[in-house]
Amino acid sequence: MHLLPLGDADPQLSDRELEDLYAYPSDLDRPWVQVNFVSSADGAATAAGRSDGLSSPADKKIFALGRDLSDVVLVGAGTAIVEGYRGVKRTELRTERRARLGLAEVPPIAVVTGRCSISPDLPLVADTRVPPIVLTTEAAPADRRADLAAAGADVVIVGEEAVDLRRALDALAERGLRRVCCEGGPHLFSGLISAGLVDQLCLTVAPLLAGAGAFRIAEGLPSAAALDMTLASVLTEDGYLMLRYRVRA
Ligand SMILES: NC(=O)c1ccc[n+]([C@@H]2O[C@H](COP(=O)([O-])OP(=O)(O)OC[C@H]3O[C@@H](n4cnc5c(N)ncnc54)[C@H](OP(=O)(O)O)[C@@H]3O)[C@@H](O)[C@H]2O)c1
Repeated sequence: MHLLPLGDADPQLSDRELEDLYAYPSDLDRPWVQVNFVSSADGAATAAGRSDGLSSPADKKIFALGRDLSDVVLVGAGTAIVEGYRGVKRTELRTERRARLGLAEVPPIAVVTGRCSISPDLPLVADTRVPPIVLTTEAAPADRRADLAAAGADVVIVGEEAVDLRRALDALAERGLRRVCCEGGPHLFSGLISAGLVDQLCLTVAPLLAGAGAFRIAEGLPSAAALDMTLASVLTEDGYLMLRYRVRA
């Protein structure tokens, strides 16, 4: 057992060192899914209904890094709506990083929505540099699909009643989008776990007790079996833990 050094004398990681630590595997020939979450110490995924109350500057840095290094940001409709998603913005660091790594200027956002419940008026569709990708079903009302397509979204049918998440990832890979940064939420995450589609979890643990009543980071139908993970790195700042777990091959 090891006691983590927590002193101020420990070296701070530079942006480049963080980037190396969180880099996606090179030469991917399949979709590779990283999932980002922040949780309170007692396991809540929200405080007052949103994740922001749990976050910190260090967590936000890791969250932004996930976007910077990815080909596509994957999110469930619940999170996109509650958190007021809009297209990924350019920042000086993001622009420099992505140009150096040979990535597109900004990653598109891909939304999983079985019922196609995303309105074309949402900033996710209306305020973005790149069109969002809407991963939906045959059962979704045809007029909603048509309205989103008319607003510029890339609407992709990947399931009959529910989104088949493996097909969804394949559809992203067909568009050259293999480095997937999933930002939740809990129902999408449990679907990915059940389908065995998670490669890495970046989990920030906030030094906070949120109490009962909030979602956990995975919600929905129980999974058949637990996935074994290895702890790949541990960072700390201001009492927050930034954990990175890899699913065992
Ligand atoms: N702590 C954190 O890091 C964190 C991260 C993200 C979100 N959150 C919080 O989580 C809450 C939202 O939770 P949530 O579980 O509702 O979010 P979610 O997983 O983002 O959204 C659930 C919705 O996504 C769609 N969906 C997901 N998987 C699907 C599948 N396999 N097939 C078809 N549709 C699928 C469905 O949309 P349709 O109903 O449109 O079919 C479903 O209602 C918010 O309060 C947010 O703040 C916290």
